[in-house]
Amino acid sequence: MVDENARYNKGANGQPVSLEAQHVEDGRRFSPSIGRNRDVVRKAFLAHMPRAGRILEIGSGTGEHGVHITAEMPELVWTFTDVDEPSLLSAKAWLAFAGRGEIDAAYVMDAASADWGAAIEGGGFDGVFSANVIHISPMNVAQGLFAGAGRVLAENGRLFLYGPFGRGGEMSEGNASFDADLKRRNPRWGVRDLEQEIMPMAKGAGFKLEALVDMPKNNLSVVFARS
Ligand SMILES: C[S@@+](CC[C@H](N)C(=O)[O-])C[C@H]1O[C@@H](n2cnc3c(N)ncnc32)[C@H](O)[C@@H]1O
Repeated sequence: MVDENARYNKGANGQPVSLEAQHVEDGRRFSPSIGRNRDVVRKAFLAHMPRAGRILEIGSGTGEHGVHITAEMPELVWTFTDVDEPSLLSAKAWLAFAGRGEIDAAYVMDAASADWGAAIEGGGFDGVFSANVIHISPMNVAQGLFAGAGRVLAENGRLFLYGPFGRGGEMSEGNASFDADLKRRNPRWGVRDLEQEIMPMAKGAGFKLEALVDMPKNNLSVVFARS
């Protein structure tokens, strides 16, 4: 049988951690999709998220978003987490490359877990950031993400999600075919519907919608605050 995921980096469970071939240099992985979206994601982040304080990233993958967002933002202290240990080696290599190793940290952490362990020591996070994670993972990861953000965010903290979403039962053609492809690879993956699936989860964890930013290619940045 042909392994259609053969060219992707795989996690410890044998599943691909992203659906793209990534170039590696000095331990740093380069994600082609982050290469395309990192500027718009940074812009949306800086417009709607705290510009100082501690940010916890969930499913940080290569680490490029955190390194790019914190560039020239000396008051943002970023903690990388990912369930996939090899991905964190890339985040660490990016930190070493950026020369900011002493103020940032990287932890193996399963967002679906009820205990986020050492990654959240010290508590009081000002922001939780997660890009392109909740559709390439089972629904319990999104649930764990909201529950965990509810536990670790400070009173005025914000939760930022970036990626494709359905809207009230509708989806762009591109997102619908992406959704079908995700479900074919893993029936537990899929593009989540903001109104029908994510908002009820957010409400249940004590969050309200704070901002919605249209992003290129029918993606969204969604920002939540405590309700
Ligand atoms: C498509 S990649 C996105 C990586 C990066 N955030 C980006 O924007 O390119 C999805 C990431 O989510 C991580 N992930 C999947 N399930 C997870 C879980 N249960 N807890 C934490 N991270 C998870 C994967 O290991 C992978 O690094």
